[in-house]
Amino acid sequence: MSAIRILTGITTSGTPHLGNYVGAIRPTVAASRTPGTQNFYFLADLHALIKVQDPAKVQRSTLEIAASWLACGLEPDNDRVWFYRQSDIHEIPELTWFLTCVAGKGLLNRAHAYKAAVDRNRAEQQDDDFAITAGLFMYPVLMAADILVFNAHKVPVGRDQIQHIEMARDFAQRFNHLYGEHFVLPEAAIEEHVATLPGLDGRKMSKSYDNTIPLFAPREQLKKLILSIVTDSRAPGEPKDTDGSALFQLYQAFASAEETAAMREAFAGGIGWGDAKQRLFERIDREIAPLRERYEALMAKPADIEAQLRDGARTARARLGTPFMRQLREAVGLRDLSTMPATATVAKEKTAAVPVLKQYREQDGRFHFKLADGDGVLLQSHGFGNPKDAGAWVARLKSEGAAALDAVAAVVEPWPAAAREAIGEALDALKHAEDARLQAKGR
Ligand code: TRP
Repeated sequence: MSAIRILTGITTSGTPHLGNYVGAIRPTVAASRTPGTQNFYFLADLHALIKVQDPAKVQRSTLEIAASWLACGLEPDNDRVWFYRQSDIHEIPELTWFLTCVAGKGLLNRAHAYKAAVDRNRAEQQDDDFAITAGLFMYPVLMAADILVFNAHKVPVGRDQIQHIEMARDFAQRFNHLYGEHFVLPEAAIEEHVATLPGLDGRKMSKSYDNTIPLFAPREQLKKLILSIVTDSRAPGEPKDTDGSALFQLYQAFASAEETAAMREAFAGGIGWGDAKQRLFERIDREIAPLRERYEALMAKPADIEAQLRDGARTARARLGTPFMRQLREAVGLRDLSTMPATATVAKEKTAAVPVLKQYREQDGRFHFKLADGDGVLLQSHGFGNPKDAGAWVARLKSEGAAALDAVAAVVEPWPAAAREAIGEALDALKHAEDARLQAKGR
């Protein structure tokens, strides 16, 4: 009955390119149709603020990315498929703080993006912290909140994000340990057979290399960009290598197996680079043209996209985020004070809960002591011939508490391993009560 929850975020800091389409949008939209899954896709606009401090650019990118995903066939239904904007889920920043309070700072020090920034500073003989915001440092915690707020099981991400998912697991685990089992431990889902696309210069297509082909570049611009792809200098008629050819890899990412085989033959047969580029352009445009048309229609109506995103956030919060956050607030102790028992009652319960250590004489004339709490006997001593010997142990336990635990083992009946902690706690409580008593007497 319970569906597998799949969640991923897209940072709204740029314009989608063909690499994003092949590597993320296309496979994710296809996966969103898998039966038995619940899918959460969101625009990570709070993450964008870490990198982009140009408001118009954040807004523009949010619109472009939303329109791209919808144009590529994402069909949010607010039941199996949710599409929303991170900043509309108010539970996320609140959960970020809860997680911040369990996140190890040392772990965050090791986050790749932050470490790379520190390393750059060192290489440039700058102060370690030069131009590094706390936002960059906290990036993995915000990302963990994105994932944990909906208790996602699987998080499809690129390899560079695996570390962040592991950190999310770590924070979730620490939280669960302290406050009970509230979070599912998420797993990264890496698509092994999804191609990383080469860019115009043959290196991985990436904004940071400035070698991208925008997904929805107008037809003429798409053609111009494809004609500018770097090739070797072999003339028409000379056989061409498919290995290491960016052009071939791009073709393969769009073509069927038969089309790819035909292109491989054309390479071997010495197709000219100009012709090969023309075929690549036509193949890509055949897939992209209908999406581009939808994209343009969507971009013309930003208010519709706004309404759709708000709707997604509203239903995801109402059904999941808000009730879950209520549970978490309760768990950490941000509670309704009226549910609290009156202070006097609590104090009395506390007194009653202090364990008792009793010395007594058995029928056989031997002297014993035992430690008991509300739940029963914790320690039971052997019999001593002399009351002073039993008394000395009682005094020692009262003054040393759990520190005397190993020593006392020699004169009491063995306790089950699982009870050790409770016995230690009882002895410490006893010592505290005794210390307080002595102090009160001294005054
Ligand atoms: N950090 C991710 C990236 O740059 C984007 C992201 C933000 C994300 N929050 C997320 C991905 C939560 C998966 C889950 O690609």
